[in-house]
Amino acid sequence: MSRLLIVHHSPTPTVRTLTDAVVAGANDDAIEGVEVVVREALGATADDVLAADGYLLGTTANFGYMSGALKHFFDTIFLEAGGALSDDGSAGATGSGKKPFGLWVHGRYDTTGAVRSVLSIVGALPWSQAADVLEVMGDVGEEQRASAYELGGTLAALLS
Ligand SMILES: Cc1cc2nc3c(=O)[nH]c(=O)nc-3n(C[C@H](O)[C@H](O)[C@H](O)COP(=O)(O)O)c2cc1C
Repeated sequence: MSRLLIVHHSPTPTVRTLTDAVVAGANDDAIEGVEVVVREALGATADDVLAADGYLLGTTANFGYMSGALKHFFDTIFLEAGGALSDDGSAGATGSGKKPFGLWVHGRYDTTGAVRSVLSIVGALPWSQAADVLEVMGDVGEEQRASAYELGGTLAALLS
């Protein structure tokens, strides 16, 4: 049994809808042999990360960056999860990523900086991007829910 860890910050009903679709996709009945573990970003631990074989990360865009909650997650788990820091304290580059990850970001105006902020940190973890980043702006409808479901299913299928 492999394990998919979903770490998210979902502070509003709109974002929660998106997160629920990602989780539902990861739990699709057609996917076997994968345990899906869901953690709010402020509660996820390094043990959660070390016990997982793949990751899905979800955040809002805030001030052109990821949410403080997801940043707290990275601050907490980065070194124990094998993250590489540069001499100046910035995230380095491992180049040896093995565990797959996916990312979704919800915003109202522009998610560019939020996506960049996550990818720059994850680039220093021994993980590899396994799906296109899902960026959703504004209201969440059927199309966005379907994309989120597909993202969840894609990562889970990779681990089955
Ligand atoms: C303090 C603050 C900063 C925000 N900064 C951004 C931002 O940089 N880019 C963006 O697209 N949305 C930004 N937003 C909008 C949030 O991403 C959005 O409110 C969140 O994803 C929840 O979506 P909802 O308000 O539609 O429920 C910001 C919201 C707040 C409260």
